[in-house]
Amino acid sequence: MYYVGVDLGTSSVKLVLMEENGEIRNIVSREYPLYFPKPGWSEQKPEDWWEQFVLGMKELLAGVDHAQVDGISFGGQMHGLVLLDENDAVLRPAILWNDGRTQEECDYLNITIGREKISSYTANMALTGFTAPKILWVKKHEPEIFAKIAKIMLPKDYLAYRLSGVHCTDVSDASGMLLFDVKNKCWSKEMIDIVGIKEEQLAKIFESYEVVGTLTQAAAKELDLPQGVRVIAGAGDNAAGAVGTGTLEHGMCSVSLGTSGTVFIATDAFAVDDANAMHSFAHANGKYHFLGCMLSAASANKWWMDEIIGTKDYPKEQEGIDKLGDNQVFFLPYLMGERTPHNNPNARGTFVGMTMDTTRADMTEAVLEGVTFALRDALEIARSFGVKIERVRLNGGGAKSPLWCKIVANIMDVKVDKINSAEGPGFGAAILAAVGCGKYASVEEAAAKLIKVVETTEQDAGLVAKYEKKYQTFKKIYPALLPVYDEIVK
Ligand code: XUL
Repeated sequence: MYYVGVDLGTSSVKLVLMEENGEIRNIVSREYPLYFPKPGWSEQKPEDWWEQFVLGMKELLAGVDHAQVDGISFGGQMHGLVLLDENDAVLRPAILWNDGRTQEECDYLNITIGREKISSYTANMALTGFTAPKILWVKKHEPEIFAKIAKIMLPKDYLAYRLSGVHCTDVSDASGMLLFDVKNKCWSKEMIDIVGIKEEQLAKIFESYEVVGTLTQAAAKELDLPQGVRVIAGAGDNAAGAVGTGTLEHGMCSVSLGTSGTVFIATDAFAVDDANAMHSFAHANGKYHFLGCMLSAASANKWWMDEIIGTKDYPKEQEGIDKLGDNQVFFLPYLMGERTPHNNPNARGTFVGMTMDTTRADMTEAVLEGVTFALRDALEIARSFGVKIERVRLNGGGAKSPLWCKIVANIMDVKVDKINSAEGPGFGAAILAAVGCGKYASVEEAAAKLIKVVETTEQDAGLVAKYEKKYQTFKKIYPALLPVYDEIVK
């Protein structure tokens, strides 16, 4: 039998066709536009997701016996606000996880209502990318749309709805809405009241590996699949990515270099840190995790390559960078503002330290290093809780670069394990589909059978020391520029 894992990302939808023994039979990726209607705003059209998903499925399944497809599941960009009216039509473009328009709404939640209260209801504080502040924003700025809301959905759940007809979500993705009581895995009545919505407007909650339903007649026809194909809830992309890298045991850590950059730490029990410095979310295996998220990781490199120096040949651009640790140029990757650790939508991208002999390669290296220093900020928060992080599993597009793996190992002072599949969230989603269809008894059993470490990049003590010094300098740049960022934005 076959299992389809759908990674609904920010730049593209990636589809993975997995056999039940874990072999990946096909991978397809299809892009869609991302809209920035104002600086710091970020939107996408749910109809584009569906359209590219359908085209991608046709490509993925070409030449395959469609009757052998057993289940479909998802990993999806988190926090995005998808609004449907009473006929399930999309009311406005989705407001995405990296959109920074809701500072006022976050101040209302964190200051007027109070961070401790919000955290006691949801295990998290309000951050501009999260879903609840966006609903408040729509209520204030687009009251005619707010009045028509029948359902509030997350991005991947919109696809699950189009497939199954069920308004569903899963515990890991629901955790990022700031409407979910993460500890007790139910909607928070207090938050529902604060935001001014009704529980009927929210989706039905599932564990990530649970079956939501089967294909509707219309979806089966559109995809040319049997109606019995099961739709499994799936997970937010970070939890799905953690399944795909086997980051399940208590204390294990994975790092993602996707459009966003994340540090993910699996925990057996629910926990929340007093300062809400990291997000406290449910995991896709029925347990929990801590997450730190920076908003522009591989996307900062993509911006530098595609938009600024004008090349698509990333490996060639990285070829000449062989002597690490001596770069005088620093880069702050805050191109969409920053979440962990600064929680500041006004932060901006910055190069510092160029001289007349600075080369294009120095700047490219600075971008890769700057993203990694920013990710280390999140890792250091976890280390400050006493979590020992000595090795990480890397996933996301950036993980394909051996140079970036080396930079991660040495800036973070960890061993970087590469596993047999580079398709983190898509592979994790396919695993969740197989578990949901009963091929494996649990996510853990599937991961133990399907995921293997194939290569480890070790750190080098000399380079770790050089980068440690540079990290201390990196940390001084943001506070020094903070007043300048505020002036630029106002
Ligand atoms: C996590 C987050 C991002 C998105 C990217 O909190 O906002 O990782 O899920 O797709």
